[in-house]
Amino acid sequence: MALEAEAKRMVAQFEYSAEEVNKGVREFVREMEEGLAKQGTSISQIPTYVTSVPNGTEKGVYLAVDLGGTNFRVCSVTLHGNQSFSLQQSKVPVPRALMEAKTSHELFSFLAKQIEAFLKTHHLDHFEKHKAQPGEVDYFDLGFTFSFPVNQVGINKGKLMRWTKGFNIDEALGQDVCELLQKEIDSLGLPVRVAALVNDTVGTLMARSYTSPGKTSTLIGAIFGTGTNGAYVEKLDRVKKMKEIDDATGGAANYDATTGLMVINTEWGSFDNPLKVLPNTQYDIDLDKESVNPGIQMFEKRVSGMFLGEILRRALLSLYQHPDAGVALFKDESSHTNDIRSTTTVADDSPLFKQWGIDTSFLSIVEEDQSDHLRITKQVLEKELKVEAASTEDCVAVKMLVHAIGKRAARLAAVALGGVVLSTNKLQEDETVDIGVDGSLVEYYPGFEEYIREAFREIEGIGEEEKRIRIGLAKDGSGLGAALIALVAHNAEQPL
Ligand code: BGC
Repeated sequence: MALEAEAKRMVAQFEYSAEEVNKGVREFVREMEEGLAKQGTSISQIPTYVTSVPNGTEKGVYLAVDLGGTNFRVCSVTLHGNQSFSLQQSKVPVPRALMEAKTSHELFSFLAKQIEAFLKTHHLDHFEKHKAQPGEVDYFDLGFTFSFPVNQVGINKGKLMRWTKGFNIDEALGQDVCELLQKEIDSLGLPVRVAALVNDTVGTLMARSYTSPGKTSTLIGAIFGTGTNGAYVEKLDRVKKMKEIDDATGGAANYDATTGLMVINTEWGSFDNPLKVLPNTQYDIDLDKESVNPGIQMFEKRVSGMFLGEILRRALLSLYQHPDAGVALFKDESSHTNDIRSTTTVADDSPLFKQWGIDTSFLSIVEEDQSDHLRITKQVLEKELKVEAASTEDCVAVKMLVHAIGKRAARLAAVALGGVVLSTNKLQEDETVDIGVDGSLVEYYPGFEEYIREAFREIEGIGEEEKRIRIGLAKDGSGLGAALIALVAHNAEQPL
């Protein structure tokens, strides 16, 4: 019982009350408005030069690549024009060494080689014709999903502001990432033009809009995966800093202003970096201190998949190292497994002792576990954390902490989504507010959407109207969505 009481005390530190949620939303709305007015703010509010969303009738074949997390993906997308599409793809893990390479060339030449391999497999004819007679075949338009904060100055132009999610290549900062990729593509002589720079959230927004049912167009595209971020449709005249940007670029970013809309990439991962309203436990503080970017992406570090496992690991470790052995975790000398009494042991090389040792999938499995005596949690502790013969009491404590960390993340997610819904006034303007989401947390963490909805109902200005907010999984934002933006870019250059 002592362990359970101690776990309860820790769980209380992760509670995030309705009052705090509302305080969070008010600050979020304030930072959104500040970001629309000027450059260099906490929530960046980056104009994407996408000024309309698709309606499902678009057609054509486009290439898309996606760099933004663990894998690099290349795909070709055929839009059929009736809200449907087909897609061929290949996926390779990004080698860890390239994430922290010395030069951008190392990373981008690797990406271009993957595109070459993909063309040889799926578009060999096109590839060979181009090699034999360059200029004879059309170039593929490619949508480049690059899911890091980029100061975008045109549909296929943008300078890297900072790396996130464990990437760290100093030399790339401030460089135009489309140019970096185009240079490597050209040096391989591929018939490919980088036509659009796409954040994965913008891709998600476009993909959801292309496929979503009914007439309501989608307001938000959001990712709750390795990282977190959201993009939304804003009224162009509310983007007060647009004039300043247009002046600075000499109007070089040619975009269609007649729609009166602009998709904005919020980069909400850096909401409240100074920690005015975000919850903060000792585990959050230590995680940040030992990350590659201390003081930055503070919202993301409490919400997204890359970090939840690490918060949990730190909480479990402190419970394991509790000075009072009667309270500590995994210290049972006579735990009961299959009617055999045994002592709980933690292997010396357990991931419990390694930074980033616990994957978010661990949290999803434990949260889901309804088995007798938490048998599944016991198994996954053994398999993933090398903890032998954990007691049921241990498992209960682990599950309580998992639940607390996951639920806090979902309630924080509601702050961001709720903030955008309120700031755009969409509940007043439209019958239904549509949100497309993607990422491992929303897809696999049990109850993530329900916890978001519960928090929505506690937000002043949403309350019961939560029912009119529709949340749908938008798979393939970075493939389909990027293709749709490449199409917009293509049409902008060569009007149909
Ligand atoms: C990046 C965003 C991205 C998000 C989701 C964040 O770390 O800053 O650009 O959209 O992750 O992938």
